[in-house]
Amino acid sequence: MRKYPLLSALAIATVLAAPATPTLAQTGKLKVGFMLPYSGTYAALGNAIENGFRLYVNERGGKLGGREIEYVKVDDESQPAKGADNINTLIKRDNVDVVVGTVHSGVAMAMAKVAKETGTLLVIPNAGAVAVTGPMCATNIFRTSFSNWQPGYAMGVVAAERGHKKVMTITWKYAAGDESVGGFKEGFEKGGGQVIKELTLPFPNVEFQALLTEIAAAKPDAVYTFFAGGGAVKFVKDYAAAGLNKTIPLYGAGFLTDGTLEAQGDSAQGLLTTLHYGDGLTVPKDKSFRAAYAAAYKMQPDVYAVQGYDAAQLLGIGLSAVKGDFSKKPDLYKAMAAAKIDSPRGAFTLGKNHNPVQDIYLRRVEGKENKVIGVAVKARADPGSGCTM
Ligand code: PHB
Repeated sequence: MRKYPLLSALAIATVLAAPATPTLAQTGKLKVGFMLPYSGTYAALGNAIENGFRLYVNERGGKLGGREIEYVKVDDESQPAKGADNINTLIKRDNVDVVVGTVHSGVAMAMAKVAKETGTLLVIPNAGAVAVTGPMCATNIFRTSFSNWQPGYAMGVVAAERGHKKVMTITWKYAAGDESVGGFKEGFEKGGGQVIKELTLPFPNVEFQALLTEIAAAKPDAVYTFFAGGGAVKFVKDYAAAGLNKTIPLYGAGFLTDGTLEAQGDSAQGLLTTLHYGDGLTVPKDKSFRAAYAAAYKMQPDVYAVQGYDAAQLLGIGLSAVKGDFSKKPDLYKAMAAAKIDSPRGAFTLGKNHNPVQDIYLRRVEGKENKVIGVAVKARADPGSGCTM
């Protein structure tokens, strides 16, 4: 058997004479694969991320770094067990250049493993799994959102400063909940507080009643929680319906009240949360972003929309640095790692583990807004433990 096909002398000459310009694949469309939840408790979050991403690209005439962007999408259903198959479908069947996803930490860890093995560029526009910018970190994996540790830690600092001593926590039993509570505990214990009991239920269950009864009986100084999306709406309503909002202060990572206030109504009023975004920021980019988002989608953006917008910004910075030549991976990644992102949350850079270094705001729910009332922790990097690259 012949190892190489026979080439005519003419064909060889043609190949050798080919100019060193980018191939067609580097000047044609760039394919972005959205792997996001479009169903289930996190569906609204997935849609907001896609909206934000598309807004940034549309503001640039549908292009990043001179390359026209095309999209394919898959509903990951926030199901970790389907994560590897779903991302492999995008990479191998749809031939995407970049994967943008996802919301759920368990799914994101499955994605990061495949991204690392295949060398596919992965931009994470939400999921805060500590591992993906920790032990699983890689030159081709970037995050434009937060690590679960960041808002949790900030709220721990705040709860201690507010004089609370004994706190109970309640969350879904998976990476995001565990790590958010872990961050809270670290900040709270550093300030002299103590977590007396950690309550959990499986994701995405919303049968909170028995656990609320347990909180009422234990009478802690306060409660810290991580819930998001549809589950956050139900938790805040149930907490108030049980009358606990009158007696035991509820604190949360800001996802508890982001994109949810319309549905939570009165039950959320006065809640204090910590997050890297909020209402009433005096960031010029936030003003223009909000106006553009509202005009495009006839609704107000939330933190998820911001994270999607910033994922597109980050990719755009990388692509511009290589003039759209996606084959120049080392230069592309170098530019992305060094990016200063002009985010509506305030400009931020990435730590050496490719996670945002950012201010975490303290917010209070007032009407339909998460009003920023201070900075809980300033320019906070995720520790990035176990990341070597
Ligand atoms: C996560 O799973 O990491 C997660 C999900 C929803 C959020 C925040 C974090 O709002």
